[in-house]
Amino acid sequence: MSDESPRPPRRKRYSGKNPRRFEDKYKEHDPSRHAETVAKVIASGKTPAGSHVPVLMEECLDALKLEPGMIGVDCTLGYGGHAARILESLAPGGKLIGLDQDPIELPKTEQRLRMAGFDAEAFTAVRSNYAGIAKVLSEQGFQDVDFILADLGCSSMQFDDPSRGFSFKNAGPLDMRMNPNRGLSAADWLARITPEKLAEALHHHADEPRAESIATAIAGKTFRSTLELAAAVRVIVRADPDEIDLSVRRVFQAVRIAVNEEFVALDAFLRALPACLKPGGRAAILTFHSGEDRRVKKNLQAALRDGQFSAISENVITASPEERRMNPRSAPAKLRWAVRA
Ligand SMILES: C[S@@+](CC[C@H](N)C(=O)[O-])C[C@H]1O[C@@H](n2cnc3c(N)ncnc32)[C@H](O)[C@@H]1O
Repeated sequence: MSDESPRPPRRKRYSGKNPRRFEDKYKEHDPSRHAETVAKVIASGKTPAGSHVPVLMEECLDALKLEPGMIGVDCTLGYGGHAARILESLAPGGKLIGLDQDPIELPKTEQRLRMAGFDAEAFTAVRSNYAGIAKVLSEQGFQDVDFILADLGCSSMQFDDPSRGFSFKNAGPLDMRMNPNRGLSAADWLARITPEKLAEALHHHADEPRAESIATAIAGKTFRSTLELAAAVRVIVRADPDEIDLSVRRVFQAVRIAVNEEFVALDAFLRALPACLKPGGRAAILTFHSGEDRRVKKNLQAALRDGQFSAISENVITASPEERRMNPRSAPAKLRWAVRA
């Protein structure tokens, strides 16, 4: 037997143009070594593979009115873009607790923030659903905090990685779970759902106008991949190509919301929110579609009426034309804030 260990396989080289496949974009996946490539990708209005461009950053910081020494929660840590800037504002002496339900991305983000110099005193990462924010706070030894940020929905790392099964543009297993260790995959959920329940989800989660006909055709069926589901929707919708694409997008959104029980979690979070803030404490919530924004708006208004909040944003704050150009994913974002009475 030879004691020579086999050579590791050679990594594919960038050949002229950037690679197209998510998993081949090794420079984008390693921004610390390829900062120039990553900067070029961002400047071209794209999100580098395996990362996330934070949305409405200055507006979130402005809404939270952070000061050194404050303690708060980022309920949706994601890539840690908002968290890194928040942590800079809290030093010296402050503390950020970062939650995320994604067990795949959370350790990577924790490591990135540690490498950026934020130690365990300044930053704690907790894998948790934000529905349980009150429990997390008490486990961390706090009853209430100075600020809470929630940037709802999925991260670009989740959307863009075909193996997570969120995107109708790339072939992947039909999964869509932010926490793949919990609940049913999108494929299993669709295979078990009735047409009536699916039509309801398509209406309520995505305002899909063809909910009934799409639900009748796809409920209870087995789709192995994202592209199979997208193709099945395309066959049903008789419209121009842009309209068809919109329906595919809405079906994926509705199924994703259902599989991750996003509205159940959001409602629980909004109920818990006032009690988790100190008097004068501030919350900022970013939403990305009307179903989320309606819930946030109604809950903040109700908590203002019953005296739990002393002020809430009168109008939604949206991305500037410049931000939309630089990061098209910011276009649907709406920011609302509230101040604890
Ligand atoms: C839009 S991204 C946040 C991006 C982040 N602000 C940044 O700057 O990188 C949303 C993140 O929230 C997480 N998330 C979504 N719903 C959640 C929930 N109910 N509980 C905890 N985390 C959740 C997702 O896994 C995802 O990482």
